[in-house]
Amino acid sequence: MIKPTCEDTFLIKKRDLKNNYFSMVFKTYSRVDQCQPGHFVHVHIPSTDIFFRRAMSVAGVLVESGEIEVIFKVVGRGTRLLSMLHPGDRVNFLGPLGVSFKLPKKSEKAIMVAGGVGFPPLFYMATEMVRRGYDPKNIEFFYGGRSVSDILERTRIKKLGVTFHPVTEDGSYGEKGLVTGPVERYIKSGDKAKMRLYGCGPDGMLRAVNELGLRLGVPGQLSLEAPMPCGVGICLGCVVPLVKGGYARVCQDGPVFEIGEVAL
Ligand SMILES: Cc1cc2nc3c(=O)[nH]c(=O)nc-3n(C[C@H](O)[C@H](O)[C@H](O)COP(=O)(O)OP(=O)(O)OC[C@H]3O[C@@H](n4cnc5c(N)ncnc54)[C@H](O)[C@@H]3O)c2cc1C
Ligand code: FES
Repeated sequence: MIKPTCEDTFLIKKRDLKNNYFSMVFKTYSRVDQCQPGHFVHVHIPSTDIFFRRAMSVAGVLVESGEIEVIFKVVGRGTRLLSMLHPGDRVNFLGPLGVSFKLPKKSEKAIMVAGGVGFPPLFYMATEMVRRGYDPKNIEFFYGGRSVSDILERTRIKKLGVTFHPVTEDGSYGEKGLVTGPVERYIKSGDKAKMRLYGCGPDGMLRAVNELGLRLGVPGQLSLEAPMPCGVGICLGCVVPLVKGGYARVCQDGPVFEIGEVAL
């Protein structure tokens, strides 16, 4: 069980990834060694009139130097203010929070399906698997976006040595269409008993990946998003309905759930 901390971190590196996407690396996070792929941090936006924190998946860590990376898209006021920070600025983080992904066996194929800004936790997972000695050839990294500008960090993904399957709706990069098309083709062409499916992205894509996993009989996990007022299981602001009945808190019982567990 991880013990999250609430502490100030310092922005040390900021990259504008264009098209409203940013990468930020923060320093001196004492629980960085406890971070696992799928965990998130709850970020206080430095502004007097924004009360609720914003959830951000961990996109990567450097344990030796105590660095933690987040990659985000500017969608509203909170993320816009975050994007305006400069190196040296101080930001309060609560984390690491949530349930992490279960890594597959080394002999299994990890089929990762990232959609848009669902990329960070799966990128962290692929990076961590390679670091732990998994064969990168057993990682199939499917990444869908509207156009080429939504497919982030292409060079970094390729450097991992994983099999990269970019897919764009307008055909400006990789295969044209929706990401789930090539995923389905890939699953049908291989040994399903040795596959694990992992997804993170917009609701429609998650529903499609969930349906694929159930229909084709491939187990796996999905990372969900929900508005998170408290982030630590108290307010019930983030609940989702479960297939078996009842509800789960995305912040505390997730954000990672088994395929077929949540009524999407
Ligand atoms: C587990 C998790 C991981 C995520 N990881 C990423 C990531 O890696 N990269 C990324 O780009 N995005 C990620 N998101 C989405 C990100 O949290 C939202 O894009 C962000 O909160 C939007 O904030 P905003 O102020 O810019 O947006 P706005 O659209 O302006 O927010 C709209 C309104 O929503 C409400 N709201 C926002 N946040 C909260 C909250 N915490 N509780 C209650 N109400 C709220 C407020 O009323 C706010 O005014 C993640 C979300 C979750 C749940
Ligand atoms: S955000 Fe409060 S219970 Fe999940």
